Amino acid sequence: MTIEEIKSAHMIYNDHYHRNHSRLYELTKDLIDWSEYPDEEKAFVDEFVCFEDDYYNYILHMERNNIIPKQVVDIGCQLGVQAFIFRDLIAYIGIDSYPIRLKLAGATFLNEMFPNLSISLENKTVISNMSLGYFNSEKFGVTDSVIIDNLKNCKTLYIASTWNIINSLRDYYKHFEQFKDDMMDEFPRVCLWN
Ligand SMILES: C[S@@+](CC[C@H](N)C(=O)[O-])C[C@H]1O[C@@H](n2cnc3c(N)ncnc32)[C@H](O)[C@@H]1O
Repeated sequence: MTIEEIKSAHMIYNDHYHRNHSRLYELTKDLIDWSEYPDEEKAFVDEFVCFEDDYYNYILHMERNNIIPKQVVDIGCQLGVQAFIFRDLIAYIGIDSYPIRLKLAGATFLNEMFPNLSISLENKTVISNMSLGYFNSEKFGVTDSVIIDNLKNCKTLYIASTWNIINSLRDYYKHFEQFKDDMMDEFPRVCLWN
């Protein structure tokens, strides 16, 4: 999507949708062969495919601050449909421990488990939205200190996670901005950048 399309999609999203509902499903449904997906993944297609408004916010923040990169790495991309938002602007690498079935020009998907990644995050623009930190206590078993250690040297980091992780990461970045959000007390969305 172009910046103008993102601005307009964001406005439409804010006016008509909320977190239990996704507009991106409508925009991407013909690109995805949902018959390839197991039933438990299909079940939430109509309701929710990603935290769509966070991704709009992140790209618009890049534009406002003149930090649009050539490439982003999105850790914990789940289905990966948010790659559609990036595809006219920024090369997208989505990573998840679950296999990603989406095929989209401009997007690369890696079925890998953070922190054991085949690419370096150093000096990159990285997104981790409701993934690292959010899932620590469940089966993923990645600790806060491992997350902090692996995310402290990015160039720009968009993260929705716990305050403990975010506050520790703040020491490694020059700039900090928090996005206003209805989940901001428990899982704040922030950008940290240099
Ligand atoms: C709640 S979803 C968020 C999806 C997307 N980022 C969004 O904002 O809509 C979290 C995803 O993070 C993935 N995840 C959690 N820990 C991970 C890890 N250590 N390595 C790779 N993926 C991970 C899960 O498999 C899941 O698909």
